[in-house]
Amino acid sequence: MKFITVDTYDKLSRQAANIISAQVILKPDSVLGLATGSSPLGTYKQLIEWYEKGDIDFSQVTSVNLDEYVGLDGTNDQSYRYFMDNNFFNHINIKKENTFVPDGCAKDLTAEGDGYDMHIKSLGGIDLQLLGIGLDGHIGFNEPDSVFVKSTHVVDLHESTIKANSRFFANENEVPKQAITMGMASIMQAKKILLIANGAAKKGILEKAFFGPITPMVPASILQLHPDVTVIYSEN
Ligand code: GLP
Repeated sequence: MKFITVDTYDKLSRQAANIISAQVILKPDSVLGLATGSSPLGTYKQLIEWYEKGDIDFSQVTSVNLDEYVGLDGTNDQSYRYFMDNNFFNHINIKKENTFVPDGCAKDLTAEGDGYDMHIKSLGGIDLQLLGIGLDGHIGFNEPDSVFVKSTHVVDLHESTIKANSRFFANENEVPKQAITMGMASIMQAKKILLIANGAAKKGILEKAFFGPITPMVPASILQLHPDVTVIYSEN
């Protein structure tokens, strides 16, 4: 594991964007696993800037996102599909049909999850997975649990996650109580993993996840078993 500490969010974002752009330059048809939340916003902004300068070409890239709220479709401005379109995809030359986000409105969410995993497999797996980390150690929406769940599945969001994510909604009651998330198998089978975290509030959970015991009660701790993980942390 490489653990990189920087002193500003801007540096974190530039370094993460550098790693992603190197991936796309070296393998133009990369499968990128992408994340939402506030942490990757600066990374996406930087990648857009470099795309506009002509430095990166996303035309052959395929993306698979980690998760989606159950019950929100892509027209809902709180959905992760909407987030990805507006903060990234609409500003680069990735083909929309090559961008995948689990469908939180699918009638059969179990079938949706199984199909999502099969699709990732059919793409040859993920080349580079970008992750954030929740305050309780969740990655994607894999919440603390008694087991690591392998497949893409529906989760009940924990109270602390609902609270943390309510900052994006009008109030806490509007935060969906469930989500569909990529499971640990697709994440752990990614060839490379890049986890970004910023803010002093994340320091404790990063220590637990990367230097504590491997336990499903700290979902990100499973990443200690992955052979190619880079963590970039900025305290500010
Ligand atoms: C959400 C997402 C996660 C993300 C987490 C942290 O719960 N499902 O993928 O890592 O938020 O978000 P932030 O980066 O805003 O702290």
